[in-house]
Formats: sequence, C-alpha cells, structure tokens
Amino acid sequence: MEFNKVKNMKGQVTIPGDKSISHRAVMIGSIAKGTTEVHNFLQGADCLATIECFQKMGIEIVNNTNTVTIKGKGLHGLTKPASLLDVGNSGTTTRLISGILVAQDFNVQLNGDASIQKRPMKRIIEPLSLMGADIKSIHNNDCAPLEIKGSPLKAISYQSKVASAQVKSSILLAGLYADGVTSVTEPYLSRNHSELMLNAYGANVTSKNTTSINATATITPVAELFAQKIDVPGDISSAAYFIVAGLIVPNSEILIKNVGINPTRDGIIRVCQAMGAHIEIMNRKQSGGETTADIFVKSSSLKGITIAGAIISTLIDEIPVIAVLACFAEGQTIIKDAAELKVKESNRIDTVANNLKNMGADITPTEDGMIINGGQSLKGAVIESELDHRIAMAFAIASLVSEGTTTINDAECVNISYPQFYNDLKRLSK
Ligand code: S3P
Repeated sequence: MEFNKVKNMKGQVTIPGDKSISHRAVMIGSIAKGTTEVHNFLQGADCLATIECFQKMGIEIVNNTNTVTIKGKGLHGLTKPASLLDVGNSGTTTRLISGILVAQDFNVQLNGDASIQKRPMKRIIEPLSLMGADIKSIHNNDCAPLEIKGSPLKAISYQSKVASAQVKSSILLAGLYADGVTSVTEPYLSRNHSELMLNAYGANVTSKNTTSINATATITPVAELFAQKIDVPGDISSAAYFIVAGLIVPNSEILIKNVGINPTRDGIIRVCQAMGAHIEIMNRKQSGGETTADIFVKSSSLKGITIAGAIISTLIDEIPVIAVLACFAEGQTIIKDAAELKVKESNRIDTVANNLKNMGADITPTEDGMIINGGQSLKGAVIESELDHRIAMAFAIASLVSEGTTTINDAECVNISYPQFYNDLKRLSK
C-alpha cells in the first residue's frame, strides 16, 4: 500500500475498543454464570480468534458488530472442543486461554500462525507447571503448538522475571481454579485489566506495590463469577498513532475520542508531555474500574528524552510509533529496558531500526531498546511490516511527514487490532 506526505491532519476520530479488554471480556464472560454484554468490542482478528476458541468449547457467543453477547456457563461449563483451538496471531489469546485450559477436565491442543509459533511460551509453561498443570510445547521448543491436559491445580507464589500482563493474567486465571491463594509478583506493574475485570465479575483479587518494584497481584478462589455489562474503552495503543500524527505533522489538530487512560497504559501521554507536546486530556469518565477521556493534540516542537524503567510496561506496544515521534524531536531519545520488544509480533527493535534507517533516520538499535538522534528529515522507502500490525501503523504515520512515496508491504495486517485504521487516517489527512 502506498502513502504520501500530507499538508496537515485535522478532525476528530473515535478509536475502536481496547484489544486487551475485549479479549478479557470474552474469556471471563465465558467462565462466568449468566449473559455478559460487551459494548464497543474490538472487531480485530485477534479478538475474533478468542471468540472462536470459546465458541468451540460450547459457549454461545453472538457478535453483532458493536455488541457481543456471551452466554457464560460458569467456571466449570466449558466442553472439549472437537478440534484444535486456533489462536491466529494472538499472543494474548494463547497465554491467557492457557491459564483457563490447564484447569478444565479435558485435553486440548492449541496453535496459531507462523509468528505465534516463534513466540516464547516458557514464561507461562513454567509457572503453570509449578501449579501442577500438564502443558507441553509439542515440538519441545517452548513455543506453540501446545498440548494441555486439564489437571487439579495447586496455589503458588510466583516471581515473574518480566513485567508481563499476559504472564500475570495466565497465572491469575489458573488461580481461579487452584486449591488456595495464588500470587504473582512482577518487576513493575503491567497493565491491570485482568485484576479490574475479574473483581467486577465477583472474583477476589488484591494488588500490592502497584507503584513500586515487585508489584504483586493475589487471587483467592471464589465459587463462581457472575455476568457483567462491559463498555470497552477505546484502545490507547491505537490512539497512539493519531497522537503522534497530530504532534509531528505541521499545522495539525486532532481530537481523539473515548480513549482508555488506565495509568498502567498511559505512558505514551506522559512521554509526550515530557517531550514538550501540546496534549490535553478532557472529559474524564469512569466505567467498570477503567477511566476514559478525550485527547486533543496539536503540532508541537519536541525535545528528546530518556524512556526507561517502570514506564516501559505502560507503553510497550507504543514504542514503534514513539520511535517515529523521536525522529521529529530535537536532540537524542534513548529507549532502554525494553528487551521485550524482541518477542512481540516481530522483533520490534530490528523492524523499527531497519525501516527507520531506510527512511534516513539516525537510529541505533541496542540490546534493550534504541537510540534516536532527532532532526533528520525522512524520505519515503519500502517498509517491511513483517506482518506486524504495529509496524505497519507506525510507518504509515512516518509516511505523512516523509518526502516521496512510502510503500508498506503486507499493510493489511492492521486488521489484527485496527481494521478501520487506513480509513480513519485518510479522513483526517488534508
Ligand atoms: C497484552 C500485554 C502485553 C502487550 C500485548 C497485550 C495483554 O504483552 O504487549 O499487546 O493484553 O495482556 P506482555 O504481557 O507480554 O508484555
């Protein structure tokens, strides 16, 4: 797909539902008693894969585009699927569903696309096995395909090496079925949507050290969870593309409506503020433990900063587009403590650095991040998205301020998290 420089970006955009929250609504709704209604569900391929997995396990789920209705059958209501569960490209589906599957009274295999078959699963296999789960990597390479045989589970206290909401959530979901109190400690707090939603459904999850190192979430089993009505906030990870576009395209003003600004996800806003961006947060509202707001951005002069430590898990998916932003800031931006980027849908340290270099940026990849010297003008290039949705979207934003034509290969991979992305981008581009 081809993209060209634009004059400015103007208008307003309503961002589709949050991917993380949409996945959790289907999973937790399926194992709760009663009918869960999910509004503003993200119709991205990853979340649709989660719906299909639970439909295969006997849960009636009706997807009426904006509203998804899930007839949950309680903690012990899932049935053995007739065939393998296909998780597509979704790491969240793979890791979270495994925490539920290890506790069922049936065996199941799960697999996904070529990217999923390279992503590390040891991070869930290890803690779930400590709980007594029978979960194996079929090719013995710590990746999918996985074979899971449901078993009784023991409660554990687990120290995770990485700040990962997928690891934490997998353990908490398994903890719903364990014989006692399970806790998981991570170096820094990762997104806490599972904790918030589980409690909304009647679970007993407590959190400790949420603002310091060794954040701990603890779950005490309850007899049942109960259906809820969920309003999914817009996904700040999708809003990030328009935040950056509004800041770097000259003479732009964009109003981004209904964005989830949970403090475990709002690192992009804090980074933009620290870089000197004109960014306003308006109309804050609360719903189901999550905060939403409208975000107004306009073109700004920016300066480079260092992004490291606890903030990284609150903006991990936004780093590709933050790297684009940094190219338009004065001075140096250093991103470190972000080695997790290597195990996302692509190795995002390499895909960001290689593609930005091809556009003429001054960027050096490092072991755990990248160093960008801003101020070099960018030129159109051929971008290899490597089928990674966040790379395709980040470089579509870079193209708006690059001389000449940018060609993004496999651009349609944005269907994973933002199927309407190119339409919204075109509408705001003047
Ligand atoms: C997610 C957690 C993050 C994030 C992913 C979604 C989630 O991954 O990158 O896109 O919904 O829990 P990690 O938990 O592996 O950091």
